[in-house]
Amino acid sequence: MTDDIYYDPYDYEIDADPHPIWQRMRDEAPLYRNEKYDFWALSRFQDVVGASLDDRTFSSAYGTVLELMGDEPNTSPMMIFRDRPEHTQLRKLVSRAFSPRRIAALEPQIRELACRYLDEQVGSGGFDYLADFGAKLPVMVISSLLGVPEEDRDDIQRWTDALLHRDEGEQDMRRHHEKVGQQLWGYFARYVESRRKSPRDDMMTDLLEAEIDLDDGTKRRLTDVELLSFIGLLSGAGNETVARLLGWMATTLARFPTQRRKLVEDPAKIPGGVEELLRYEAPSPVQARRLTRELELHGEKLPEGSRILLLTGSAGRDDREYDDPDRFDVERKIDRHVSLGLGVHFCLGASLARLEGRVAIEETLRRFPEWDVVWDETEWVHTSTVRGYAKVPIRF
Ligand code: HEM
Repeated sequence: MTDDIYYDPYDYEIDADPHPIWQRMRDEAPLYRNEKYDFWALSRFQDVVGASLDDRTFSSAYGTVLELMGDEPNTSPMMIFRDRPEHTQLRKLVSRAFSPRRIAALEPQIRELACRYLDEQVGSGGFDYLADFGAKLPVMVISSLLGVPEEDRDDIQRWTDALLHRDEGEQDMRRHHEKVGQQLWGYFARYVESRRKSPRDDMMTDLLEAEIDLDDGTKRRLTDVELLSFIGLLSGAGNETVARLLGWMATTLARFPTQRRKLVEDPAKIPGGVEELLRYEAPSPVQARRLTRELELHGEKLPEGSRILLLTGSAGRDDREYDDPDRFDVERKIDRHVSLGLGVHFCLGASLARLEGRVAIEETLRRFPEWDVVWDETEWVHTSTVRGYAKVPIRF
């Protein structure tokens, strides 16, 4: 009997700990149906992998956030919401600016930012790991990647948070999105204009100058609208996710002090620890898709147009892929996970996310090898795209 399995990504209670229900879905209802919100869900590792790689059938062009999906392909120039061939073009263009050289070169700046925030807390006895550190770091990193002046970065943080917030049960976020989006958009439009006039050695300038060869032999650059959308996408995709990763880091290492000690004693284990954290509590656990054709899955015929959630957060806990998946083990050998996506939409910022995660943990453990979380003062962030803490007060 699977009738009593109920999953929806809008329910705060389920969101607080979806792992038991995801396990039942993997075992008893690998193709889950939610009538209320009209979606299907795939929860097993292999199914999430298969769907992520079959992007011609599992379309992103109607949006990848359930409540933002429409019946028509959306017109957003954000590549995360495009299918091939437009996606390939946009991705090629921005990948040049998002080069490994530019990302690796950020390490000293990321470390300096991390040291600055964390040094302020040495001797304080405790602080809010997210508000005072984890949520600030990624905004500053992306802002510095783009070259945004420091005095404007708090505004960007506020708008980005507001853009991703969702009240319990809230379905239609389009109007709310529009207003805050316009503020961010206006800011960056002015910023792009000023960078056009005075180019520098930063990603914004790379993006303004990047060109790709088209099939017909012509070249093209990003339009202003594409450029602004890409900046919006970077803030949206890169800030909240890294903040959630750092929240999971602070809480999970406090829950498993033996694992934390291993990282303190041997910092070379930290990169592996970041992968394990991503697997164990995926910061972005749900990706939505729409079927471009009729498809049979687990013996069921799904019509064209069906909305399907790929539960990457559940895939990380699938015992068909990982031994004893509910055990958090920083020494686990992880060949692969899907917490950064897979296939054509694989996270563009993956190496930046890993770099920020590693530096944040290194600098945290260097100053605070042990801490406790004040659990009854923690707060949760509620959006349908990311999952994790908004507030993590710690004491040491
Ligand atoms: C721990 C941190 C992060 C997590 C867990 C994460 C997760 C993901 C996931 C799951 C996807 C695939 C979405 C899909 O298939 O629909 C994705 C795509 C993407 N991510 Fe990340 N991300 C993180 C950090 C970042 C950062 C730091 C940036 C940029 C600065 C970034 C930029 C992007 C972009 C642009 C895409 C869209 C790629 C495309 O459509 O081709 N992400 N991310």
